[in-house]
Amino acid sequence: MSKIIGIIAGSLRKESFSKKIANGLLQMAPEGFEFRIIPIDELPIYNQDFDDHQNVPATYVTFRNNIQAVDGLIFVTPEYNRSIPSVLKNALDVGSRPYGESVWDRKPGAVFSNSPGNIGGFGANHHLRQCLTFLNIPVMQQPEVYLQKSNELFDEKGDLKEGDTKEFIAKAVNAYIEWFGKNA
Ligand code: FNR
Repeated sequence: MSKIIGIIAGSLRKESFSKKIANGLLQMAPEGFEFRIIPIDELPIYNQDFDDHQNVPATYVTFRNNIQAVDGLIFVTPEYNRSIPSVLKNALDVGSRPYGESVWDRKPGAVFSNSPGNIGGFGANHHLRQCLTFLNIPVMQQPEVYLQKSNELFDEKGDLKEGDTKEFIAKAVNAYIEWFGKNA
């Protein structure tokens, strides 16, 4: 049976570069793996009252089930103010509760950060790693993936253009798959 890798893009924007990178990853799944995008767009801001008073939004249930169904995770995050966008943090929070029932536990992960700027989302990349450590998601260390000039990576259809960055992303995916095999 195929191993399933969930891909989470940390942006809601329709033309999001992170969403386009996530879409590009779908074509890179090797034999024996299915890559699957897990949307975070419809998740209300986490409020513990939902869990404490049995009033859990249907979108939380779907999201938690979606994470439970995957074997590993690739996070494609942009950078907001040198950290991760709140929508991505919110998704992490939603999946981490109710207390003791986190759906993230022990699913091997990778962080692919990106930015139109030159730093490639370095700040977001490492803030995300801090959360993932606490959530007990082992995270691939090498290669580090900081994708710069994200606005230049796509053709007119929104697909990843052939070139160095696409090749680097494919290498990072292969490294993740190999690393996944040792850490799953
Ligand atoms: C940004 N952007 C940004 N870029 C960056 O490299 N470092 C940063 O700290 C920030 N901060 C930031 C804050 C906010 C509120 C916004 C809206 C944007 C620019 C950001 O990288 C750019 O908008 C990307 O296109 C966002 O990613 P998506 O939506 O294309 O995936």
